[in-house]
Amino acid sequence: MEIKKGLEDVYVKETEITYIDGELGRLYYRGYSIYDLAEFSNFEETSYLILYGKLPNIFEYENFVRSLKESRSISNGLREFLKSVKKDANPMDVLRTAVSIMGLEENTHVYSISDQSIVNLISKFPTIVAYYIRLKRDLEPVEPDPELSHASNFLYMVNGSKPSEEESKAMDVAMILHMDHEMNASTFASLVVASTLSDLYSSIIAGISALKGPLHGGANYEALKMFREIGDVDNVEKYILTKLSNKQRIMGFGHRVYKTYDPRARILKTYAKLLAEKKGGEIKKLYDIAEKVEEIGIKYLGSRGIYPNVDFYSSIVFYSLGFEPEFFPTVFASARVTGWIAHILEYVKDNKIIRPKAYYKGEVGRKYIPLDSR
Ligand code: ACO
Repeated sequence: MEIKKGLEDVYVKETEITYIDGELGRLYYRGYSIYDLAEFSNFEETSYLILYGKLPNIFEYENFVRSLKESRSISNGLREFLKSVKKDANPMDVLRTAVSIMGLEENTHVYSISDQSIVNLISKFPTIVAYYIRLKRDLEPVEPDPELSHASNFLYMVNGSKPSEEESKAMDVAMILHMDHEMNASTFASLVVASTLSDLYSSIIAGISALKGPLHGGANYEALKMFREIGDVDNVEKYILTKLSNKQRIMGFGHRVYKTYDPRARILKTYAKLLAEKKGGEIKKLYDIAEKVEEIGIKYLGSRGIYPNVDFYSSIVFYSLGFEPEFFPTVFASARVTGWIAHILEYVKDNKIIRPKAYYKGEVGRKYIPLDSR
């Protein structure tokens, strides 16, 4: 009997959605290289591809884009909830609770995955996140603009002004790169719930809950905190060596599957650099620190297969696009929701409840002693 701690190297399903070559640092969605999708596609088209297994034709594409646009607005109930939340709440807790309210509003008592609930979830995540960001900044929330693409509209609702072409492209690319990643912790968490034939909203809540952790989608926030803490390029080597000698982790480094440079980090680095050079100031300083952390981190950890992952440079990209660090995981979730849904759809086609085993190593046959005699 062998226990695979952390289910390392355990396959839990067959998939045709995402393929990762962790040795060569390659990533494919439905057979298409992430490099091609980042260069030529956008959020809407890649979402369709991940969900339905093929690139849409023009009719399918326009229909999908239209249905996403039509579903962007959130209900009065959700607005009231977001207004009532304390300003210092964790944004992932707010998002998780908002999805719970969406489930209640749809009244999903039992297993159900309708096209409308899929579109609802994908289209409303950015509205919920942006609405709470604006309230937290003591600003009026911005209503979605149907003229704008999914990525541009997200930035528009956050910043209150239309993004530049560069910002819009960077956001599209970042969302494409975060959209799916095979059997990561949050996707597995959502599958565990879906495999009981619970409803879609409950399954997505499990995904959000798992993504929140600093070892998963919370690492982008931690990476930016680290760059700020370092404060100057000259402090990097000492900082990293101190961390490593204290057995602490470099956030945004390391991956269960990649034993080389994560291709998503490679692509995001080019956008982080571009935006940092354009925006200058604090962003450029943070980018320079990040680049130095990359160099020193690889010097000490690269031989063990520990390299920058997606969260390393996404932190700089998200920050330069106007998101406060504590909101980074919610941007990640707004893209990953597509992947969670795609894996749920794939799994439940041939469903089997996920119920592994735990190897019991405690005592048996202990004698019960009443409370007053213990
Ligand atoms: N910095 C320093 N050392 C590290 C790092 C790191 N970022 N990552 C792994 N290691 C070391 C561990 O200390 C451990 O060393 P040891 O064998 O001497 O004890 C060894 O590498 C193996 O680490 P595990 O945690 O067993 O590796 P695992 O595959 O389980 O973990 C993980 C992968 C959780 C991502 C890990 O690399 C990590 O904690 N990274 C930092 C957090 C992070 O960036 N998470 C985002 C990942 S990408 C994503 O989820 C979207």
